[in-house]
Formats: sequence, structure tokens, C-alpha cells
Amino acid sequence: MPKSLISIHDLTKKEILHILDVAKECEKQPVQTILNGKIIASLFFEPSTRTRLSFETAANRLGAKVIGFADISNTSITKGETLKDTIKIVSNYADLIIMRHPLEGAPRYASEISSVPVINAGDGANQHPSQTLLDLYTILQTQGRLENININMVGDLKYGRTVHSLLQALSHFSPIFTFTAPEELRLPEEYKNFLDKKGITYKETSDLDGSLADADILYMTRVQQERFSDPMEYEKVKNVYSLDCQMLEKAKPNMKILHPLPRVNEINPNVDENEHAYYFQQAKNGMFVRMAIISYLLGFK
Ligand code: CP
Repeated sequence: MPKSLISIHDLTKKEILHILDVAKECEKQPVQTILNGKIIASLFFEPSTRTRLSFETAANRLGAKVIGFADISNTSITKGETLKDTIKIVSNYADLIIMRHPLEGAPRYASEISSVPVINAGDGANQHPSQTLLDLYTILQTQGRLENININMVGDLKYGRTVHSLLQALSHFSPIFTFTAPEELRLPEEYKNFLDKKGITYKETSDLDGSLADADILYMTRVQQERFSDPMEYEKVKNVYSLDCQMLEKAKPNMKILHPLPRVNEINPNVDENEHAYYFQQAKNGMFVRMAIISYLLGFK
């Protein structure tokens, strides 16, 4: 079976660090020809702006050509074609498949059917490993290290897949965690059990204002409306946090605000010009990191 990237656990610490090194090379040399003649399939069964466009840009910047869809309404899935058949067909056409799907586990299933590597571009509330690698790259870029980072993860820790992937990756690097969420959106037990087994301690709070002073990284997240089965439950928590410049007066000088984006109301737009804001640079880093991931999985780096 070809090497796929479905969960951050598919990579060792050494592989993670290698991909971050390759991403740095890609940032220095963002136009390459190593994938001339290769075809990358981009299959998005769920909406995306950054992940899809940065993966497609990354493939183009490496010299590959891109096929795929951003909307299943134009595909034979609407006629009842199964995921299994779709993946079997596309893996005959392409050298690598990038796939986002609302169903947790769908990319893993696809990787078991596909004859070419599959990259999970986000599956339900489960995993988003390429986002995690770009988050790590951005942490390294802004803090100069990955070890012993004090990170405060804020918002929807229940449904936010970027949080779930990132905390697992950071477990390699002795992190100091604070999890800031309302009761309804607290981190699920399975992730706390994971940290307990690794001997990694964490604080839980619902108070953003009172919890940001120690952070090196403030990792804001959106409340994931699309994962709520009851719209009333979403209404109760949708505006639970709204970061503004006044709250940042107590932040450490090195503290950077990251957000996987899109944001809704959790970061006031007036924060965008603040010295602590780094989420747009973080999104740009996604392009270099995704160049590195594609190159690595295809055996070129
Ligand atoms: N961060 C992220 O996954 O953004 P998109 O949903 O726009 O791809």
C-alpha cells in the first residue's frame, strides 16, 4: 500500500521534522519542476478555501497538473456512485489523491482502496494533518522552537479537527497546554486520555481573558456550525469568544495568534493589524508545507 497521510499519527517525529525542513526549502524556492508529468487529484466532498487552493497551488508550483472537483453536484456521486468506486477510478487517473470528506474515517477507507497515496484534507471532527504540519511550521517560524511551547487552544475543542490533530503532534515536543472552551465545547475525553497516557498535563478553563497571559501561542478556533445536530445548541455558543486588542495588552511580547481560518466572530477584525496577529502568514505557510507533503509522499524529498 502506498504511504498516505490520513492522521498525524501516520508520521513519526523524525518525518514531521523532515517535512518542516522540506517546507523551508520550498519557501526559499517556491517554483519547481520535480513533479513535471504528474497528476494530482483534488477531491473536495466538503467546502474549503485555504486547504484546496493551497494544495492545488502547491501541486502547480511543483510542476504537476491538477484534476478534481470542489463540489460533488457535478460528479456521478449524485447518480449514486459509491466512494469506493469513485476512489478506484480516480486512483487510475492520478498519482496522488487529496481528499476532504464530512465523514470521519472516509479518507482512511479511501487509502485502503487507492493504488496511490491519499492525503486527508480534513474528515469531519477527526483529523486535519496537513493543517497540523503548517501550524507546526508557523510555531517554529515564530517561536524558533517546537519544544516546551505554552499553547492556549480556544473555542470549539469538541468538534475542531485542527485542535485534535495539533495536540497529538505537539505531544512529541513537551507542550504546556491550556484548553479554553465553554462547557459544551470542551475537549473530548479521548484526547484527554491520550495526553494522560503521554504524561502531558493541561489546564481547562472557560475564561479567555484570564488565560492568555502565559501563552506563546494563542490558537483560536471557530465554532463548527456544520457539526451541530441541534441549531439551538449552536446559537447558545456561537459568539462565546471575541478576541479584541484590549485583551491582548496582557500578552507576552513573543505571543502569536494563530487560527486555521475561516473565522466568524472569534477574532475582531481590528486585531488583524495587531503585532500578535499571525493567522494570515500562517495560511500562506500552508502552500509551502503542502508542497513539502506532496513531494515527500511521492518520494521526491
Ligand atoms: N483551515 C482550513 O481547513 O480552511 P478551509 O476550510 O478554507 O480549507
